[in-house]
Amino acid sequence: MKRRTALKALGFGVGGAVVLTSGGYGAYYAAAKQDTAGRIAFDKALPVPPLAESETDASGARVFALGIRSGTTRFKAGPATRTWGVNGTYLGPTIRARRGERVAFAVRNGLDQDTSLHWHGMHLPAAMDGGPHQVVRAGETWRPRWTIDQPAATLWYHPHVHGSTADHMYRGLSGLFIVDDEGVEASKLPSRYGVDDLPMIVQDRAFDGDNQFEERVPLGGALGVIGDEVLVNGAIGPYVDVTTALVRLRLLNASHARLYHFGFSDDRTFSLVATDGGLLARPWNTERLYLSPGERAEIVVAFEPGERVELRSHPSEYGGTLGRIDGFDDRLDICRFRAAATLSGGTEVPSTLGTAPDLAGEKAVRERSFVLASDRINGRAMAMDRIDFGVREGTVEVWDVVNDNGFPHNFHVHDVRFQVLTVDGGKPDPHLRGWKDTVLLAQGKHYRLAMRFGGHTDPNTPYMYHCHLLQHEDAGMMGQFVVLGDGEKVGTVPRSHHHA
Ligand code: C2O
Ligand code: CU
Ligand code: CU
Repeated sequence: MKRRTALKALGFGVGGAVVLTSGGYGAYYAAAKQDTAGRIAFDKALPVPPLAESETDASGARVFALGIRSGTTRFKAGPATRTWGVNGTYLGPTIRARRGERVAFAVRNGLDQDTSLHWHGMHLPAAMDGGPHQVVRAGETWRPRWTIDQPAATLWYHPHVHGSTADHMYRGLSGLFIVDDEGVEASKLPSRYGVDDLPMIVQDRAFDGDNQFEERVPLGGALGVIGDEVLVNGAIGPYVDVTTALVRLRLLNASHARLYHFGFSDDRTFSLVATDGGLLARPWNTERLYLSPGERAEIVVAFEPGERVELRSHPSEYGGTLGRIDGFDDRLDICRFRAAATLSGGTEVPSTLGTAPDLAGEKAVRERSFVLASDRINGRAMAMDRIDFGVREGTVEVWDVVNDNGFPHNFHVHDVRFQVLTVDGGKPDPHLRGWKDTVLLAQGKHYRLAMRFGGHTDPNTPYMYHCHLLQHEDAGMMGQFVVLGDGEKVGTVPRSHHHA
């Protein structure tokens, strides 16, 4: 009955339906509405994931050693939680590399089961992608390598074993991968990692009475696990001591299903400066920003000396009546910012940043349509040995994507960045005008996405496209494509497609 007390303590709103059922972990409750505004202690400094160390090998590549392991992590008073991590017990280090650099990894799987590490947002050969076909067996080491060949952006890494992605990520396997380039270095954005340039890996988790992670799927919920506590970089209710007038936050929604509607407790305006694939052409000032699972955003926030304000997720307009069950109406306090009496540094957000996507004027050689409904894409569930189609190197395609059932989905494509050309025929909202690799699909609306393929071809090794709500992805809302060189035909996925 501990949950009942917890629900009370969290102050569930009047009229919030509380449903009782008995599940695998005993009784659990799903509340249709949760409100933690003003109820979080914020008594723990925000942990900043360390930057991963690397060594340069004989070929000039920077080699990163990543060890995946299990352990325990203390999130709150009482017993420690059994978790997984990379070079630690929960989450992983931030990998940082510049455009043009050669990178190599020794990914050692220290678990007692197979897993993988996928580099979400990275343009790279399919065999290095870390998806369902690059499983790293228990006890083995996988050694991908490639040259960073894309503009500065906040990317991330996470497991991608077909059917188990949700489970592996829930235990803690995720980290950031920051790509730098000359443009971002010249941009004058706040850039001191851990000081005025802060990674924020946002996740929701549910704990059982023993402080262990509980996969709480709300009764009647359609999206999978929805936790009632929000962690940033592995800390519940952290604070940040702000020392500069401007702070850049690299927000990552690393949750399974939760949609965050970011804003601040005083509704202040902040500047969106980058989306999944890199810098916007110019900042967009807003009070609210949606991030669905897998999406990233870089924002710059201005602070006044001595003030306090919380980063908060506000109730959202998505989800309809059913969405209440999946947390769409929740109001969640996430992190407190405590500004010092004097703040250093500039106060102006640079007015020009990167380059706007430029695919609208390109001739698309091919249009494809993708209908997402009932854990299927175009009526088909993901099959490891079926390559759904091949795209031609060097060409631009336009994909028309629609969420055709009653539940929220988003859409992520591996290997490429895309431009949202139109949403239901209209100009996309400002936050969708930069480069993206994951996009939230409002129900029934057609998203036309333009992307250019190429750089790496392989007729036999597919990249994925899928809904990034992990339960949907694991259940089969995913497909596979290959990038073909001149004259190549779609090949066959090798039978045992594990690493060499
Ligand atoms: Cu974030 Cu297919 O991945
Ligand atoms: Cu990905
Ligand atoms: Cu989905």
